Amino acid sequence: MLNIIDLKCENLTNPIGMDEKNPIFSWKLESDKENTVQTRYELTVGNFTVNEACGDSINIEYTGPALRAKTKYNYCVTVWDNHGEVSCAEGYFVTGYMGKEPNAKWIARPGDVRPVFVKEFEFDGEDAYITASCYGLFEILINGKAITDTFLNPGFTSYLKRIQYRMFDVKDYLTKGTNKIEIYIGKGWCKGRFPSFPTVPSPFGEMPNCVFCELIADGKTIVATDDTWLTYQSPVIMSEIYDGETYDARLEGKYEKEFPAVEYNIGFANLVSSRSVPVKVIKTLKPLSMFTTPKGETVLDFGQNIAGWVKFNIKGNEGDVIKYTHAEVLDSEGNFYADNMRSAKNEIFYTFKGDGVETYRPHFTFQGFRYVRLDECTPNVTIDNFMAEAISSDTNVNGHIECSDEMVNKLFSNILWSQRDNFVDIPTDCPQRDERLGWTGDAQVFISTALKNADCSAFFTKWLLDMMADQKKDGMVGNYIPLMTCLKTSSGWGDAGVVCPWELYKAYGNKKFLATTYPMSKKWVEYIKAQGENPYLWNTGFQYGDWLGLDAKPGSYEGSTDKTYIATVFFAYSTYLTGKMAEVLGYEDDVKYLEELYKNIVDAFRKEYVGEDGEPKCKTQTAYVLGLYMNLFEDMQKNADALNSMILANGTKLQTGFIGTPYLCYALSRYGHADTAYGLLLQRGYPSWLFSVKQGATTIWEHWDGIREDGTMWSTAMNSFNHYAYGSVADWIYSEAMGVTPLEPGYKKIKIAPIPSDALGYMEARFATPYGFVGSKWEHKDGKTIYTVEVPCNTTAEVVLPDGSVHNVGSGVYTFEG
Ligand code: BGC
Repeated sequence: MLNIIDLKCENLTNPIGMDEKNPIFSWKLESDKENTVQTRYELTVGNFTVNEACGDSINIEYTGPALRAKTKYNYCVTVWDNHGEVSCAEGYFVTGYMGKEPNAKWIARPGDVRPVFVKEFEFDGEDAYITASCYGLFEILINGKAITDTFLNPGFTSYLKRIQYRMFDVKDYLTKGTNKIEIYIGKGWCKGRFPSFPTVPSPFGEMPNCVFCELIADGKTIVATDDTWLTYQSPVIMSEIYDGETYDARLEGKYEKEFPAVEYNIGFANLVSSRSVPVKVIKTLKPLSMFTTPKGETVLDFGQNIAGWVKFNIKGNEGDVIKYTHAEVLDSEGNFYADNMRSAKNEIFYTFKGDGVETYRPHFTFQGFRYVRLDECTPNVTIDNFMAEAISSDTNVNGHIECSDEMVNKLFSNILWSQRDNFVDIPTDCPQRDERLGWTGDAQVFISTALKNADCSAFFTKWLLDMMADQKKDGMVGNYIPLMTCLKTSSGWGDAGVVCPWELYKAYGNKKFLATTYPMSKKWVEYIKAQGENPYLWNTGFQYGDWLGLDAKPGSYEGSTDKTYIATVFFAYSTYLTGKMAEVLGYEDDVKYLEELYKNIVDAFRKEYVGEDGEPKCKTQTAYVLGLYMNLFEDMQKNADALNSMILANGTKLQTGFIGTPYLCYALSRYGHADTAYGLLLQRGYPSWLFSVKQGATTIWEHWDGIREDGTMWSTAMNSFNHYAYGSVADWIYSEAMGVTPLEPGYKKIKIAPIPSDALGYMEARFATPYGFVGSKWEHKDGKTIYTVEVPCNTTAEVVLPDGSVHNVGSGVYTFEG
């Protein structure tokens, strides 16, 4: 038996609105036989067919005739394997504008009123698609029904350079005859208020809250936005990403205050198709309890910190209201605690129209929360009236880590939740307070974990395109992307311009996209080189350092590791990785140049920052960790031993912040100190990963002591309970404890070299590579250690056991004893 599964075009399942001229195709194979490899494939797109004796099943580029715009293409893949089996599978994609302009006008209603745009039209066709975009957010209804189960469209991009349109299949929503289309809009990221620390006015400030929409059937325009559309006052009276939404159901469908829409001739030069997976509801949660706090507040507990919203079904009278606020935690007395939200209000205010049971969820905002406080509620309600919907970009989270320690299992669940909650169209720092920005440092340290927990190929492709668009002329990559008001960078943050494309390439093997992003990476290296007087040190400018490191001076967020040490380490690391990219892409001159530059940086680093004893002059855990992970010391073992002793002397406890933590366990286990790395992972006392679990966390905290032992909070200003950065320890579990790493980009060849620990009975991990699931498990049983590995079809693995034995295997599940 041979099956083709997960057929993808441009890393998406049956994409609609696909504008790549030469899209790439990928598929996975399933077989009931071991050692299965593809020997030949045939790909047919429309009338074009390639049939090749070839083992490649990912990143297969379309090389046929030019694709037409606004056209549905069916495609079919047939695969032959080495056991003589054949399988085929079908998919489709629908092209979008392919660089042409929409046959529609941008429209808006001037003034600060959020309108609904309405138009009636005749239709008697079969297939139909809608394309739409908005400087803000939109929701489209046809004949009163929402045309998509996706949210926050058209997504968060660097709007002035790249604004996405989305395309939807709407044939099921149309009837023959007269149809009505309505478009609701909200301010969203583009027109909403800015985070609490704007330094310059919004670049989108002057841009009207415009929308365009075109309904296309058989390649022809049926109806499109223009000044014949009418507008009326939307029931969504106020919506802000950070502050929540005010909704007056009494306004639904009321055609008072009609005004024609106004056309805005702002052009479509920056219009791009959407490259990512949409934001969807990924889980529905019922409240665990509804209770009264010591202060007398009525609070719902959903049991899990999520990004999303409350959905309710409540019967009220006309003019009844409900108002509620969101929070992540309760304080030490058990009261509702929202001080860490800073200026984000996270309030929903709803007025009932009094027409049976009313169902509502917000339209153009989302909250990060576990608890909800009912501030006002005139109708009678019970716990059964409420549910929470968790939203996330639809990345198919299916990574798995499990072991004999339930607290580690909970930690992993928290990591997955923080990933889901923070992957809301862009990778954010946190989903709740007045930031929710694509902080590059956070993404950079977490990306390798994220790519194993889920299929984030499309998600990061889109974000990196914004990063490229936002890169400054001098090569600067900002502290967050989309850049909006941010004009600064720092080492460890801007380096995302190198680390993220490289990690993406390692995970998915897409050379074409690596070539797309390469100029950005190279320019970033040049940017660093141009800082300060010494071209081989980065010892100038603003730096975050080891952000939130515990060795910070009292009152400071910045760990005590020398910031220029960190900056120079990242200069070396980015140069090294960019050199590797140049090698992959065959850019020989760049390889030579970058290798030479790297050597010079390492020399300068050693002269400046390494003492006579061969160890860093700056004696922090993070200084050792970075030098070790980035291979910068002459005597690596000596430094690893020194780090190990420091940590043991500290009671097997870490001191590291955002920059040191992701690499801490690697720096130990790669040099024979896996026991200490496990000791840190299993540490329950403060500070540690499991401390937050002990304190009841359901997501990863921003700060090691978000809630202290005595229940008090470490700060109000910088205390998110949903920051994924420290969740990067999962990458160490996947790659070192379970030993799974790609020997070739995309995991065509895999290394599995587990490092078992006596501190646990068993541990296992499984995640989806582009070829299928890879798994690794070890278990102590009857005085022996049993190793089980799972190798996906069309790949091979080199299994290296702790006794040094090497086993080369093909696809299948294998067990070894050691
Ligand atoms: C964010 C971080 C971010 C940092 C920069 C914070 O406010 O929440 O996660 O990386 O600023 O240091």
